[in-house]
Amino acid sequence: DDTKAGVKGLVDAGIVSIPKIFVLPPEELAEEPNSCQKNIEAPIIDLNNIEEGSRRKEIVDDVRIASEKWGFFLVINHGIPLSVLDEMIDGVRMFNEQDVEVKKEVYSRDTRKKVRFNTNYDLYKSRAADWRDTLTISLLAVDLDPELLPVVCRKSTLEYVKHIRKLGDTLFELLSEALGLQADYLGSMECAKEGTLVCHYYPACPQPKLTLGVSRHADPGFLTLLIQNEISGLQVLHEDQWFDVHPIQGGLVVNIGDLLQIVSNERFKSVEHRVIANHVGPRISAPCFFAGPLSMPEKTYSPIQELTSEANPPRYKEIPLREYVARFYSSSLDDEKSPLDYY
Ligand code: SIN
Ligand code: FE2
Repeated sequence: DDTKAGVKGLVDAGIVSIPKIFVLPPEELAEEPNSCQKNIEAPIIDLNNIEEGSRRKEIVDDVRIASEKWGFFLVINHGIPLSVLDEMIDGVRMFNEQDVEVKKEVYSRDTRKKVRFNTNYDLYKSRAADWRDTLTISLLAVDLDPELLPVVCRKSTLEYVKHIRKLGDTLFELLSEALGLQADYLGSMECAKEGTLVCHYYPACPQPKLTLGVSRHADPGFLTLLIQNEISGLQVLHEDQWFDVHPIQGGLVVNIGDLLQIVSNERFKSVEHRVIANHVGPRISAPCFFAGPLSMPEKTYSPIQELTSEANPPRYKEIPLREYVARFYSSSLDDEKSPLDYY
């Protein structure tokens, strides 16, 4: 029952060394010194004046280059008011910092639950655990059962999701254009139809070199949009080097996911990333995964025909969405393979 108090519960209890289940094997840890970075800047894309013809063309070019070379970029001047971002982060903080008894009401490890809180370890099943607590909110809950959302962060989350969906639609248009397709192409494939908002809370860690906030992975959906508070920790892999993605005020992180890699026939790359643990905290982040119509088990995806040719045949066979997502969730615990390896 202690696990329900989360990683934050361990810190609040005053531990000075982390429990064994959080200690990762050396090959999975951040190497020392942490990510020596080449003199390359992570791409920042300014969305200002996006409706202006010549400016839009430049933005589409920036999106294409970043999506091909990094699978990741930051956006600024995206139109979401700073107050909406700040309130979203504050809501996550307030949820996590309220009484444990209240958090227990939403505690669950059942992935069918539309709103659930857990720490990512389960003493009986986990191979290793990451240093964080997580509140997971299906966008279906936002649409259909908003009263399932915890009271302390309900209003801020509903407001944030409204904005992030709109920005998601804009980005799918830009990505479609960057692939040389009609602006509504990815949208009409229902890439943004459903998804999940994941709210991470990473408490300060007494032994940050022994664990990670999130182990190395690529996101399974089409696209992830993420906000973070002022504490660093996110790193992306670029040309075999880890890059720190330091927060910039008002900036949002955009990650290409595996499904966009698949439908773009690998024109766009899904980016591997991780979160290092930190002596200071809490770090708070809220990635929103646009993962396609998750509640339609029959839906399948394959490389877009216009992007394949005899010289450039499809690199993936048809992938059932449901199976793919399920595979991701199970593979993260007990499987060394990436879900992409199955197709
Ligand atoms: C994630 O990849 O799930 C989390 C990334 C972050 O917290 O910045
Ligand atoms: Fe991720």
